[in-house]
This record gives sequence, C-alpha cells and structure tokens, in this order.
Amino acid sequence: MFENIIKYNSILLFSVIFLFSPARGNEPIEPIPRHVEYDTEKAELGKVLFLDAGLSSDGTVSCHSCHDFDHGGADPRPVSIGVHGKEGNVNSPTVFNSYFNFRQFWNGRARNLKEQVNGPIHNPVEMDMLSEDIEKYLRSSDFYIEAFQKIYHRSPRYEDMIDAIVEFEKALFTPDGRFDRYLRGETELTMEEAKGYRLFKIFGCITCHNGVNVGGNSFQKFGLIIPFPWKEGVPDRYDVTGDPKDKNVFKVPTLRNIELTAPYFHDGSAKTLREAVKKMAYHNLGFELNEEEMDAIEAFLKTLTGKRPAIIREDD
Ligand code: HEC
Ligand code: HEC
Repeated sequence: MFENIIKYNSILLFSVIFLFSPARGNEPIEPIPRHVEYDTEKAELGKVLFLDAGLSSDGTVSCHSCHDFDHGGADPRPVSIGVHGKEGNVNSPTVFNSYFNFRQFWNGRARNLKEQVNGPIHNPVEMDMLSEDIEKYLRSSDFYIEAFQKIYHRSPRYEDMIDAIVEFEKALFTPDGRFDRYLRGETELTMEEAKGYRLFKIFGCITCHNGVNVGGNSFQKFGLIIPFPWKEGVPDRYDVTGDPKDKNVFKVPTLRNIELTAPYFHDGSAKTLREAVKKMAYHNLGFELNEEEMDAIEAFLKTLTGKRPAIIREDD
C-alpha cells in the first residue's frame, strides 16, 4: 500500500509538471510522422502474405483474421480464435502503429516486429505452421515464386517472408488524426475535447500513456492502486520474469485509434471505451470519474483516430 502511495504521488507530481508545460511544442504526446520509410514492393508482398490464410495449418486463419483492418487492426472478439477454432487466452492488440512500440506483445517478450512474427506462425492455437511447411506452401505458388524471385532474387524462404511482412507492418501507420493536427497547430480541439485532454493530464493518465503511440513505451501494472484480479497464464511480465511483483504488469497499450479497437484490456473484458476509461481510473488512479469527466475523456480519446494506412485500400 505504502509503495502505491509513493507511486501515486509521483503520478500527481508528473501530472502537475505536464499541466504547466507551456506551448504545444512541449506536449507529452507527439504526432505520428506523416512519412515512414519502407520498401513499397516488399510491403505490397507483405500485405498479400498478411491476408493469406494458406499460411495456417488448416488454411482458415490469416494474420488479418485477428488483426482486422476494419477494426483498427485489432480483433473484435474478446480473445482470438486460431486454427481448428481453438481459443487463445488474450485479446489481440492492434497492428496499426505497432512499429512505434518499444517492444511487442502484451508482455514485451519480442524486442521488435521481426522477432514477433515467429510467434503467431508457430503458435499451435494461432497458425500452427513450421518454417518448412511455410516454404513448401510458398514454393507451390507461381505467384509467390515470381514475387520472391523479383524482390529477393531467390525462391521463397521463410526469413524473406518475415522481412516482407515486417515491411508491410511499417506501412501500417495512421497519421493526421485530429489530435496530431492540433499538435501541429492546424486545427483546434472542441471545448469538450480540450477538457478531456486536460483531465487526461491532470489525473495522470499521461504518465503511462504518452509519446508518439500514447502508450507502447513502458511496462506498467494494471491495478496499481486497486488490484485487478490476476489469472494464471495471462501474458504479463510475470510470465517473462517469474517475479511476483510483475503480475498484471503489461506493456502499456497504445491509445491510437482506440475508438475502433473494442473490446479492451488484455482479456477483452471491457466492452466499450467508456467502460475501459472508467476501470482504468478506478484501478490505476484509485477513484471514480463522474459522467462529465468520462464524456470529456472519451471525446479526447476519439481525436486520436488517424487516417487509415495508405497501403490499405477500401476493398482490402
Ligand atoms: C489467432 C489470432 C492471431 C493471428 C492469426 C495473428 N495474431 Fe498477431 N496477435 C494476436 C494476439 C492474441 C496477440 C497478443 C499476444 C500476446 O501479447 O501474448 C498478437 C500480437 C501481435 C503483435 C504485437 C502488437 C503489440 O502491440 O504488442 C503484432 C505486431 C502481431 N500480432 C502481428 C501479427 C502478424 C504479422 C500475424 C501473421 C503472421 C499475426 N499477428 C497473426 C492474435 C493473432
Ligand atoms: C499506471 C499506468 C497507467 C495509468 C495511470 C493509466 N493507464 Fe490506461 N493502461 C495501462 C495499462 C498497463 C493498460 C493495459 C491493461 C490491460 O490490458 O490489462 C492500460 C489500458 C488502457 C486502455 C485500454 C487499451 C486497450 O487497447 O485495451 C485504455 C482505454 C486506457 N488504458 C485509458 C486510460 C485512461 C483514460 C487513463 C486515465 C484515467 C489511464 N488509462 C491511466 C496503464 C495505465
């Protein structure tokens, strides 16, 4: 408890510092860059791979099955369903802007996107394929043989496939949301949105949700002040470190495009954005928000919705 009080006070102190930081140039959230470098040919191949259910053992599951472009790159189901209808134990996070996260997965066990891709491909409850199976599949397709030859100058290889998917993921950035345009001085927030942003800072949401992804840059506890029930087998930091202090500690999720990625939390237990905001304030700040405060914070969070990534077309 004492530890929590110290943490809580430092959250308040941080908030006061953020609150009094002057101009927009000094805000704790940075806009998503308008341009990210990636190789267009590789990314287009990566997109085909991302959408291809042939990469799973029973031919029914693609990356897109659990990272749906029409749901902000996330999964509308509380936990994802893999090959043979097998249920996973965790909600699938968005792939949009994941390139900007300091680590990948809820518990950060992959250092980067390249390391991450191996996870779902080999996971028995996701795509369940061996690297050899993947190569066999790709080498049975004239389309892939030709595309890999053109780009990688050899017949399809597992590591080249990963390279193409990662290149596609770099292209999944969502610039020019209203909040980013506000940060650049190109538009104003409404009174309600501005109030929400102010509260987001005063209450201390900003201590964990900041930077370009409004999250994605630190590990923090869910239930810092009022504990959130812990379940065996959740992919938290404890799962990586074995240290009991790390139970329910996760990579702080990005709040970019958050209005599109319901349901929320690692277990998909919050059905609406409002419920997620309410539970966050309760468990991590230790108090209940009133209806007006929730309205305002929700209005602010909706300004974090950016443009659909340019590489995705309407009919994808
Ligand atoms: C069966 C559903 C499913 C499939 C198929 C799937 N994913 Fe995921 N993805 C998840 C889940 C669930 C997580 C979170 C797992 C965890 O953190 O332990 C995740 C996490 C990720 C992350 C990390 C995002 C972050 O913020 O930490 C990326 C990136 C990603 N997946 C990309 C892919 C790619 C690329 C493919 C295809 C090769 C793929 N996924 C296939 C469900 C799926
Ligand atoms: C001490 C750090 C911390 C503070 C303070 C904090 N959060 Fe969070 N936030 C997290 C963590 C960690 C998660 C992931 C929780 C989980 O999934 O189990 C999260 C998840 C969320 C989610 C769900 C994201 C998703 O994709 O599932 C929303 C929305 C959110 N926070 C908003 C807020 C708001 C609004 C505030 C202030 C009222 C706030 N947070 C304060 C650390 C924090």
